[in-house]
Amino acid sequence: MHRGQVSGWDAAVASRIIEARRQEPGAMLPILHDLQETFGYVDRAALPLIADALNLSRAEVHGVVSFYHDFRSEPAGRTQVKICRGEACQAVGCRELAAAAERRHGLTLGETSPAGDLTLEEVFCLGNCALGPAVQVDGESHGRVTPDVLDALIATSRSRGHA
Ligand code: FES
Repeated sequence: MHRGQVSGWDAAVASRIIEARRQEPGAMLPILHDLQETFGYVDRAALPLIADALNLSRAEVHGVVSFYHDFRSEPAGRTQVKICRGEACQAVGCRELAAAAERRHGLTLGETSPAGDLTLEEVFCLGNCALGPAVQVDGESHGRVTPDVLDALIATSRSRGHA
């Protein structure tokens, strides 16, 4: 199932996803990935369902979800920006880029704007190390990104109807 196929949390769909994987060894991560793929995030309401299916405590499931930065607990903004904070990008100014993005948009990394139009996130290597600071906007990679370039990329995403 692809992202966007389901709009909004649906317990019945989530239960089917969990059921399909529950017998697999190490089922929790594939289940969480499938949920995020389907809904765009892992709704808190999924945690007790996973706990029951895998015979774990809710705290254990919660621990895994919060340990992995990949899983979001609320729907992402319409424009999604991932700023690389990996070592190679650190060496060429990603910290300043991230700080500028936070300042300009009034968000901290990991947050979505209250209007739901923008999510800023950090990642640790986008595989584009030679072209740092590297950024992904709506899944598209960009290199040597300055604060002004990032703003232009966000504006383009918005004009395409992402926001
Ligand atoms: S460290 Fe940033 S892309 Fe690899």
